Amino acid sequence: MLSSMRFRVLYRLVINIRPSIRSLSQIAPIKTNPPSNVDQYEVDTLAKMASDWWDPTGPLKGLHSMNALRVPLIRDGLISTGLIPKEQIRTPQVLSGINILEVGCGGGILTEALARIRADVCGIDPGEKLIQVAKDHAQLLDQNIASKIHYEVETVEEHSKKNVEKYDAIVASEVLEHVSNKIMFLEHCLLALKPGGSIFITTLNKTTASWLGGIVAAEYILDLVPKNTHDWDKFISPLDLQRVLKTYNCSTILVHGMCFEFWRNSWCWTESTEINYALQAVKLMDDS
Ligand SMILES: C[S@@+](CC[C@H](N)C(=O)[O-])C[C@H]1O[C@@H](n2cnc3c(N)ncnc32)[C@H](O)[C@@H]1O
Repeated sequence: MLSSMRFRVLYRLVINIRPSIRSLSQIAPIKTNPPSNVDQYEVDTLAKMASDWWDPTGPLKGLHSMNALRVPLIRDGLISTGLIPKEQIRTPQVLSGINILEVGCGGGILTEALARIRADVCGIDPGEKLIQVAKDHAQLLDQNIASKIHYEVETVEEHSKKNVEKYDAIVASEVLEHVSNKIMFLEHCLLALKPGGSIFITTLNKTTASWLGGIVAAEYILDLVPKNTHDWDKFISPLDLQRVLKTYNCSTILVHGMCFEFWRNSWCWTESTEINYALQAVKLMDDS
């Protein structure tokens, strides 16, 4: 009796362990994908706005109107670092021959604007739905512009490993405030940047004013963007950002404050970086 019970216990043990042994052997070899730095909650929150992405009066209207500042910022920033041939500067094709990676491109509002001045732009975003919106919208473009754009559902960690030092410029506009591990994110952005190239960032400062203006007013009083779009803990000050960039051999050459005049959906440059700001940093050559 006892030995039959023992046998049954032993049999159950062996039967239960067997699948684990099999699955262990199936795991090998271990996958070596880079660790993901994507907060799925953030991506899902933004993807809820997919159907309104291209409505210039909808919840993303602030991104549409921000193009009036950020496109000249990128254009003039690249001119100032000598990347644009002189004869090209005053032409509509000013960014012709320039390779740009836009990280966190969403539905492509900035990507398309950069392609219009003839940059070759690769837009990547972890949000599948948003990349679909971007691809669908690009089909409405003139073929000369559409052919300048390439979209991928990808993280910057995945993309940069395959494209080391490929780009003249990296753009992360209104993305950093949605990223948890900013050091890892920036490290991979910079891996894809050529020495002498620039990274352009627009984001929110970590101040009381940015909490009041960027969250309390924008999300709860003025209804400019849906509630919970932003998490103050993820904001970063320009000084902290510069410190991180410096550790990756990048020199910050410009920090501008940006002011959103919500009553007329318009942005202007301002001295104060208390709420929104834009930054350009140049990746130094190895021997500098
Ligand atoms: C506010 S939207 C900005 C879109 C675009 N840059 C623009 O300004 O028009 C933020 C975008 O960042 C993306 N995002 C969030 N977390 C990210 C991460 N860890 N890496 C790359 N993109 C991310 C979101 O999916 C979303 O498309």
